[in-house]
Amino acid sequence: MTDATPNTKSMDDIMALCKRRGFVYQASEIYGGINGFWDYGPLGAQLKKNLRDAWWQDIVMHPCRGKPGPDGKPVEIVPVDSCIIQNPKVWEASGHVGGFNDPMVDCKETKNRYRADHLLCMGMKGDSTGQIYAYIENNDDSFAAALKKLSKYKKQELTKDDIDICALTALSTEELVVTVGPDAKEAGTLTEPRAFNLMFKTYVGATASEDDVAYLRPETAQGIFVNFKNVVDTTRVGVPFGIAQTGKAFRNEVTPRNFTFRSREFEQMEIEFFCHKDDAPAWYQFWRDERMKWWQEIGLGGNNLQMREHDADELAHYAKDGGGAADVEYRFPFTAPGFGELEGIAYRSDYDLRQHAEHSGAKLEYFDTTRGELAKNGQPKGERYLPHVIEPSAGLDRGVLAILCEAYTPDPDRASGVFMKFHPRVAPIKAAVFPLVNKDGMPEVAATLHAELVRRFGHLGFIETDAKQSIGKRYARMDEAGCPYCFTIDGDTLNDNTVTVRDRDTASQERIALDAVGAFLAEKLGIG
Ligand code: GAP
Repeated sequence: MTDATPNTKSMDDIMALCKRRGFVYQASEIYGGINGFWDYGPLGAQLKKNLRDAWWQDIVMHPCRGKPGPDGKPVEIVPVDSCIIQNPKVWEASGHVGGFNDPMVDCKETKNRYRADHLLCMGMKGDSTGQIYAYIENNDDSFAAALKKLSKYKKQELTKDDIDICALTALSTEELVVTVGPDAKEAGTLTEPRAFNLMFKTYVGATASEDDVAYLRPETAQGIFVNFKNVVDTTRVGVPFGIAQTGKAFRNEVTPRNFTFRSREFEQMEIEFFCHKDDAPAWYQFWRDERMKWWQEIGLGGNNLQMREHDADELAHYAKDGGGAADVEYRFPFTAPGFGELEGIAYRSDYDLRQHAEHSGAKLEYFDTTRGELAKNGQPKGERYLPHVIEPSAGLDRGVLAILCEAYTPDPDRASGVFMKFHPRVAPIKAAVFPLVNKDGMPEVAATLHAELVRRFGHLGFIETDAKQSIGKRYARMDEAGCPYCFTIDGDTLNDNTVTVRDRDTASQERIALDAVGAFLAEKLGIG
């Protein structure tokens, strides 16, 4: 359940920590960056890998952690790893070449570009002034600023009641006599909305002619659909089953913004789950609930997460009766009090397989030996059909961003002033081992323990060791990096073979036996 508590953390502070501690850097920063592209530093790369690995483990290796599907049987999912560049006909069939467009407007004054469907349009009511419009972003500050701008044209102060608000795209351009952009001082600075194809184009081969045009994939999903028949023919899976894939996707977004939230290069984690049409509603419900639970369990269990079922008018063109679409949404500091999408769970009917069957001529129907009328021998005769699809499609970078925002915990009582409360499963640093001082045999004991922990847990994340500066400063560094447990070797260790464990979230310390550290960490990391 959610409440109305806004996520009041400062995005500037979160971004500063991400830079300072090596989670996220601007891509090509030394050249001034490039809009819509972000690189991950050492801690960010490991955090992202841990989230991807957790998804892979819980989807591919051990689907839904053994929870049976609505048919009472184990959920079956196999992976693929398809190319970023496919035959361009894939994107014609999927509808991306013809229809993957966003309406955009440019501001001639500020050079800012806006997605027309992200702007609201305020028009003054009344006779003489009904043709002046201000475009605003959907937040209170923008609203107040736009009221002021409109007042200038009406020569009197306006209130919210004096205006009409509608989505920009709902207006015809003839109605737009004067426009005022959200950040512009002058009126009439915005262009008309224009369709903008989001796919990155490239050329395959040396000649770079129009015949060689290809596209960087805008989603990983189509690489799954075009391999549906291959997977059925070469493995032992049978409907219902899923195909999963993680990988990069590219969209030439009109307005990349909000840190990594809307980037031009990003990574997705997608499942296409194939089932019989009659079973689609039950599988839709199953995946909807499973995916929400997964995000909660990975560290977004607070009240900033919600599930939002789409309204009928939001449903994609392929969504039909019997299913629906819902989003797992997170309340980011920049969307608060609203929410932003982390993952969409959509009923896609047989739309994609049908499109690819029609465009390619391939027979993509599945022969289901468990269905159909019964033959004389009492066995089903079988049924041939195009499976229907439930698609849980998650953004890995958005997941990382939500985890960074949720983990960021200001605490004025700590030397660091802030700590990153990562779930141990995704924390990039799993543990740190410190000698209290760099002498008296402590570094040697620390080195032995560090080597043991690296051997046991190094495949899950970093195991740090650090002997520099005061122990308080070392704890502070680990707090900012989100390391859940620090083990300190001190004078007592040499006498009684115990160490201090410091818990990141409570900053409390306890002593445990040196030879119990491995088992302690295994239990805390959930692999005991
Ligand atoms: N195959 C379906 C599909 O691609 P989508 O809603 O367009 O659906 C799925 O994308 C997920 O990918 C989103 O929920 C979001 O997490 C992520 N995503 C989409 N566009 C993105 C962008 N420009 N930057 C970062 N993540 C993005």
